[in-house]
Amino acid sequence: MSKSVDLAALIRDRAGDKAPEYGLILGSGLGHLSAQVDGTAIPYDELPGFPHASVSGHVPQLVIGELEGRRVAVFGGRSHYYESGRADAMRLPLETLAALGTKKLILTNAAGSLRPDIPPGGLMLLDDHIAFAGTNPLIGEATDARFVPMTDAHDTQMRDAFSAAAQAEGIDLPEGVYCWFSGPSFETPAEIRAARTLGADAVGMSTVPEIILGRFLGLRCAAISVITNMGAGLSDESISHDHTKAMAPIGASKLETVLRRFLRDAQDR
Ligand code: HPA
Repeated sequence: MSKSVDLAALIRDRAGDKAPEYGLILGSGLGHLSAQVDGTAIPYDELPGFPHASVSGHVPQLVIGELEGRRVAVFGGRSHYYESGRADAMRLPLETLAALGTKKLILTNAAGSLRPDIPPGGLMLLDDHIAFAGTNPLIGEATDARFVPMTDAHDTQMRDAFSAAAQAEGIDLPEGVYCWFSGPSFETPAEIRAARTLGADAVGMSTVPEIILGRFLGLRCAAISVITNMGAGLSDESISHDHTKAMAPIGASKLETVLRRFLRDAQDR
């Protein structure tokens, strides 16, 4: 934990002492949101041990500042399991967030939809998830704290607040189950059918390890997917990372509206 305490001290030196109320992790094609925050940007390069976010569409910097009057810590990029084979690739950034005194974590990602009523360009609020990648970021954690209950992994109050914010803005925000595949290859049509049979509504390559780590660290978590495509085999469109990056801005502008409203209307909940 001491590395994260040192990093938190470094960040406080640069950005001030006030604890961010929310941590926000931005997914593929959503990195530009960090530029909307009025505050101090610190490139991951200057935070020893932070990941080299190597995926295009991510902006590898931490920005601490104000968004809609709330103090936020925005991670412009994340590290994925498929980059290193380490499911705990985001552990140090999240430990650092907790060491800064932050209690709430908002995660965003790009995802493929399994439901015709949640089309590309739309959003989905995660009400649960399936860790289908078959690994866990807490493997190797030696303390009993590793036995994290996941029943309330997706915080009810934060979800209600996101739903209210979306409704107030007239933006559809259906809830659904996100299924975590390791990537980096996309799914096969058979895998998509399997995920649907298992109860998933969307698929993606991130977020779930961060929710597990977030709960481990005592953070309340909520996550929203920006739907960039239908899952493999569910439509004729091609699935590619370029397509993800091209489609993400459409949902991202809705996400930004919902997020701003969420923050503006946030009580101390
Ligand atoms: N599968 C996995 N990850 C994704 C997808 C998908 O279809 N779209 C965007 N990220």
